[in-house]
Amino acid sequence: MDMTISRVDPAFRDDVRRCFEDQSHAIPARWLYDREGSELFEQITALPEYYPTRTETALLESYSGDVADMGGKGRAVVEFGSGSSIKTPHLLRATEPAAYVPIDISGEFLAASAAQLQNQFQQLPIYPLEADFMRRIDLPDEISDMPKLGFFPGSTIGNMVARTSVDLLRFMRETLGTGSQLLIGFDRIKDPDVLVAAYDDSAGVTAEFSLNLLHRINREMDGDIAVDQFRHIAIWNDLYARIEIYLEVQSDISFSIDGHPYDMIKGQKIHIENSHKYGLRDARLMLRAGGWSPVREWSDEKDYFSLILAEANPYKNAP
Ligand code: TRP
Repeated sequence: MDMTISRVDPAFRDDVRRCFEDQSHAIPARWLYDREGSELFEQITALPEYYPTRTETALLESYSGDVADMGGKGRAVVEFGSGSSIKTPHLLRATEPAAYVPIDISGEFLAASAAQLQNQFQQLPIYPLEADFMRRIDLPDEISDMPKLGFFPGSTIGNMVARTSVDLLRFMRETLGTGSQLLIGFDRIKDPDVLVAAYDDSAGVTAEFSLNLLHRINREMDGDIAVDQFRHIAIWNDLYARIEIYLEVQSDISFSIDGHPYDMIKGQKIHIENSHKYGLRDARLMLRAGGWSPVREWSDEKDYFSLILAEANPYKNAP
């Protein structure tokens, strides 16, 4: 009997196989974030070209007080995909919640960041929840009677296609319930040169982050992909209003993964991420399509990024 415990997530293995076997040449972006990838992404958030993190953080610093005024203090703050919860302290300080529920798919990350926040907010009841927020979630009983404020920063919604974004917003509404509020970050449409630079920085950190996906395949699935034959590319797709990220192979190559042989032809691309950008009306329409009524918006002076506060009002009959 084989007693070795495989290091590889079976879902990752399936996605990698599908990428090369059915020639779809796409891998879900969530696999970018292993330990190495997460560390590289942290570096991306500090790059001069990568404006989203610092712009949104500044908006939260400036306007969390307004968010508190709009919904009152003493609510339960529920954060979707909390990760390292870096932006959360501003919101918690201003809104003085009765409880905080960080939700993340990675239990490891979740425990560490919850412990760190507990240090900063000693009186705050924190109920970490390891769950996939792409479905309806049962929130902890302890917060069932509290009014709720959902928090979904990072323009993470931009990493989904429109259909999936609407599904997610509807699930969030079911999870939080009628009468709750949602504070959500949207990255705005802007000069394509600014956008492309944010996803292809001059120091090459973003390229390293993308290419780490191939290194991860080599590490975890006994692969021998010649990573140096691939190039990171970021393009602005104006029709879909999104940045698309690809790994493009620079020569005809053969490699094996888990003992299976594969070939790629020069110029073929692996699609690894979409990052949709929104006009203000696009964002509002997206929210309404998912059952949320926008009530207030805050943007930086260049309109690079917007925070929108929305409410789950009872559904009314439309004419
Ligand atoms: N959520 C981030 C974004 O869309 C993810 C990201 C930033 C990313 N840079 C990247 C994903 C480069 C892949 C490649 O802004």
